Amino acid sequence: MQKRIAPASSVSGGIRLPGDKSISHRYAMIASIASGETRIHNYATGADCHSTLACLRALGVEMESSGTEVAIRGKGLDGLRAAAADLDAGNSGSTIRMLSGILAAQPFSSRIAGDESLARRPMQRIMRPLAEMGARIRAREDKYPPLEIHGSPLRPIDYALPVASAQVKTCVLFAGLFAEGATSVTEPARSRDHTEIALREFGAEVASVGRRITVTGRPSLAARELFVPSDLSSAAFFLAAALLAPGSELTIRGVGLNPTRSALLDFLIGMGAKIRIPEMESRNGELVGDIVVEHSGLRGGVIEGPLTAALIDEIPVLAVLGATTEEGLIVKDAAELRIKETDRIRTVIDNLGRMGVQAEELPDGMIVPGRQQFRAARFDSFGDHRIAMAFAVAALRADGESVIDGAEAASVSFPEFWETLAGIADNG
Ligand code: S3P
Repeated sequence: MQKRIAPASSVSGGIRLPGDKSISHRYAMIASIASGETRIHNYATGADCHSTLACLRALGVEMESSGTEVAIRGKGLDGLRAAAADLDAGNSGSTIRMLSGILAAQPFSSRIAGDESLARRPMQRIMRPLAEMGARIRAREDKYPPLEIHGSPLRPIDYALPVASAQVKTCVLFAGLFAEGATSVTEPARSRDHTEIALREFGAEVASVGRRITVTGRPSLAARELFVPSDLSSAAFFLAAALLAPGSELTIRGVGLNPTRSALLDFLIGMGAKIRIPEMESRNGELVGDIVVEHSGLRGGVIEGPLTAALIDEIPVLAVLGATTEEGLIVKDAAELRIKETDRIRTVIDNLGRMGVQAEELPDGMIVPGRQQFRAARFDSFGDHRIAMAFAVAALRADGESVIDGAEAASVSFPEFWETLAGIADNG
């Protein structure tokens, strides 16, 4: 699908965005192995979180889903059954990596596959710890999906994660739920902690001391009524649009502000962004609040070390923003970007180039000099949702109409993106 994007003089209004993708995956998976019926409100609308629901259904979990309301009848820790066919994780790295932790403990075998992009994403990072726990997993070329997971009784481990990855941490903690005793994961840098919060909500014992997280096996997980906040990583595109366009003021309602995700706001504020959060509340252990953002001139900045892990999904749109700042943006320690839905260092630099923006590719990051302008261009999502949305924001500030190929990719996390963007853009 092709989209044409006209420049906008400003963006304004109040918007509500779909439910957080990371939290939705976790609620659905944990609800499936809890006892009783969990009701989830504002479940993410994107294809990724629906891949998770489809996999869980195939494993015998009964559920009703209507729009953003999902009711899941949990099967308990020992109630899943073998799927009749391959499980399809679609484009979703979270689905395959996190669900594998649960599949590894089942008394049956499963095969889980996904689309072309997923088939190129590395899985050794989950295969290693799961093998240490006693699971047998085969993969294409020993590292890529499809995965054949031969479940077995698992033993607890104390695992030091080689890379900061919340998906891998979650996979090991989920597997640990089925092992007798305490399973620990130590992270090299703090990653999003939705799993820890969600497991506690369902009644599991989870201890976090420094960067070491420990879950006690065989908990009784009890169904809950849960509310998913709007996704801050989706809000990032609208924050950027408002920051870029003079005269903009936008309110984004009910956004998840978990401190392991909100480094984005601190980073933007540190560069000079006018961002306010009038009030915050805690729902199901997650912070939620409205964000008010106004057009602001930004200084530019450096993303490196633990900050890179905290901003990993937002780097494409920050690169767009960086090109317009005073001093530009430097991104380092971001080799992980190369193994996302696309090689996001390559795809960002490619599209920036098409829009006449200079940037230098580094092995583990990029340098985007500041004070640049976007030229109207034809660019590509390369099938990656965050690339499609990041460059739609750039196109709003271009000197004419731009065209994006593969615009449908946005549906992976945000099917309503184009409509929401059109609703706030002032093209006058
Ligand atoms: C996610 C973790 C991150 C992130 C992804 C969602 C999660 O991936 O990029 O979009 O929900 O745990 P990694 O764990 O590979 O860093």
